[in-house]
Amino acid sequence: LIAFFQPKLLAGRKVVITAGPTFEALDPIRGITNHSSGKMGFAIARAAREAGADVALIAGPVGVPTPRGVRRIDVKSGRDMLAATQAETPQADIFIAAAAVADWRPVSESAQKIKKDGSGGAPTVSFTENPDILATVAKTERARSRALFCVGFAAESHDLAKHARAKRERKGIPLLVGNIGPLTFGQDDNQMLLVDEQGATELPRAPKLACARQLVAEIARRLPAVRP
Ligand code: CTP
Ligand code: CA
Repeated sequence: LIAFFQPKLLAGRKVVITAGPTFEALDPIRGITNHSSGKMGFAIARAAREAGADVALIAGPVGVPTPRGVRRIDVKSGRDMLAATQAETPQADIFIAAAAVADWRPVSESAQKIKKDGSGGAPTVSFTENPDILATVAKTERARSRALFCVGFAAESHDLAKHARAKRERKGIPLLVGNIGPLTFGQDDNQMLLVDEQGATELPRAPKLACARQLVAEIARRLPAVRP
């Protein structure tokens, strides 16, 4: 009942969120991926929906239930995720890149299962860099004019504040969220370091949904009051 009377921070806004890992195929039955439960991105989708937004959630392969009222688009590879993101962001007000995109993919995907040849040897796999979805979107005219407000995450194992500041500037985005402490993959708690052009602010450790709600509020207060 209380929630009903609260102002909806993102009413009338469209939010696009990437979440989860990507899967980069090697052959029809194998591929490479990375640790990401998708929980944080899904929690943000839920929090944004609760805040009144129209939410598109672009999800890599994860077994997390879709939050109520959220439109989910399932993808596998980083390139699929980029295509889905480019289809959704031209109408959006906010883009939140919470996905753990594989930085590299095998150069080619074998059409058939790669078989052992009996020699005891192993295949050599060559990798190529995946597109950077966040950086690509951040370079668009709408993102540069802040009509599309872009938010990134930083997964770091050391020197978080330093890397997070550098990453925000490199990607050309107004807000970047660093995960404080040990990598929080799969856990239910999170603690965020918010990095914007003013500097870095630590938010209190909390369950992921509470963190997601905090983040939504932090984004909402940074949005241009009138749409550019
Ligand atoms: N990201 C993305 N596409 C990629 C790689 C990263 O959209 N191909 C986004 C992530 O969703 C995250 C941000 O960029 O919001 C930072 O991701 P991270 O892996 O921390 O940084 P990278 O730029 O990939 O650099 P590195 O992994 O070397 O630290
Ligand atoms: Ca990366």
